[in-house]
Amino acid sequence: MTLGRLNHVGVATPSIERSLEVYRTQFGAEPHGAPFDLSTQGVRVCFVDAPNTQIELIQPLGPESPIAKFLEKNPEGGQHHLCFEVPDIEEARAWFEGQGARILGPTRIGAHGTPIFFLHPKDMGGVLTEIMESPKQAH
Ligand code: CO
Repeated sequence: MTLGRLNHVGVATPSIERSLEVYRTQFGAEPHGAPFDLSTQGVRVCFVDAPNTQIELIQPLGPESPIAKFLEKNPEGGQHHLCFEVPDIEEARAWFEGQGARILGPTRIGAHGTPIFFLHPKDMGGVLTEIMESPKQAH
């Protein structure tokens, strides 16, 4: 297992629009594209580009959203997860299973349209970690 590229840092927010305003005024940064709903995961998503990675702004779509609890504890929002790329998602899943790491739910399609899964923070030094298959074309 090789640690791949840091694809993005996930940041939970009660309002993507408000967060975008912060990135716009504090950094002069514009969103990578318009916000979109990932309804299967209960979140609305928008990316902001940094030269070496992206910030993934995630807002709950409703009270059942997996990030609703996080925002209850952190009403202003905050750092939520790190996402690392791997060349092959099935190989990576088998590797982490072999390590005894707890994987949260099935492998599914993430915000970049490639398969992802999440590793429990208790097995990752307290950091919720997303593992994502690298997009096939250059980005
Ligand atoms: Co993510």
